[in-house]
Amino acid sequence: MTEKVAVPGEFDRVARSYDLLSALNPGYTKHLRWSAERMELPEGARILDLCCGTGLSTEALKRAYPSAVITGLDASAGMLESARDKADLADVTWLLGNAMDPAAAGAHGPYDGVLMAYGIRNVPDPDLCLERVRRLLVSGGTLCLHEYSVAGSLWSKLVWNLVTMGIVIPLGLLFARTTTIFRYLRRSVLDFDSVGELEERMRKAGFTEVRSKTMVGWQRGIVHSFLAKS
Ligand SMILES: C[S@@+](CC[C@H](N)C(=O)[O-])C[C@H]1O[C@@H](n2cnc3c(N)ncnc32)[C@H](O)[C@@H]1O
Repeated sequence: MTEKVAVPGEFDRVARSYDLLSALNPGYTKHLRWSAERMELPEGARILDLCCGTGLSTEALKRAYPSAVITGLDASAGMLESARDKADLADVTWLLGNAMDPAAAGAHGPYDGVLMAYGIRNVPDPDLCLERVRRLLVSGGTLCLHEYSVAGSLWSKLVWNLVTMGIVIPLGLLFARTTTIFRYLRRSVLDFDSVGELEERMRKAGFTEVRSKTMVGWQRGIVHSFLAKS
């Protein structure tokens, strides 16, 4: 069972060290960029970055779609504060809110694309969240869930355990002075959907053309872009 953790509150505690820890993870930025590019959005697209955190996923969107109109939403005030500090994201609209109900925070859409990077695993009701996200998209709009999924593969679970216990949790303790969110990360990924289960969840929420692509490096078979059309 995943330990109960107040997720956005824990992200507040690690917000200042989040970008440094992400920089120490080879492939983190590149893989976000791949997910953004895999969305294949048109010029001037309206995009929602759901669970945008400190804006690393938002920067990936900005680089892939320089003329896009981007909104970033997150429930952690600390993470959003770091996002607001990024000069290259000065034209992004930032919203403090719950991914379970983006419209309540002012993210009414419609959007041509929604990217949710490391978000769907953390919300209390992923099915309801996906249904609401689909309603925010234009017909034929694109969803990309950039997410860990290891449940379907023994090898992926082994690598995940080695990386999190040997590197992520010790580095978290060193740089962020806490292990809570990193232990939660390890456990929540082990308990989360397999690739097939998450794809099925997306179909059940009404998405079509559901497909997934993985990454390279240690994240092969561990981090995936889950793509679909509304
Ligand atoms: C691992 S970070 C990912 C940030 C960013 N997308 C990235 O790829 O770097 C996950 C983010 O999800 C946010 N989050 C978790 N649960 C949330 C919820 N229910 N509503 C909104 N944001 C949430 C956290 O505050 C955190 O900033």
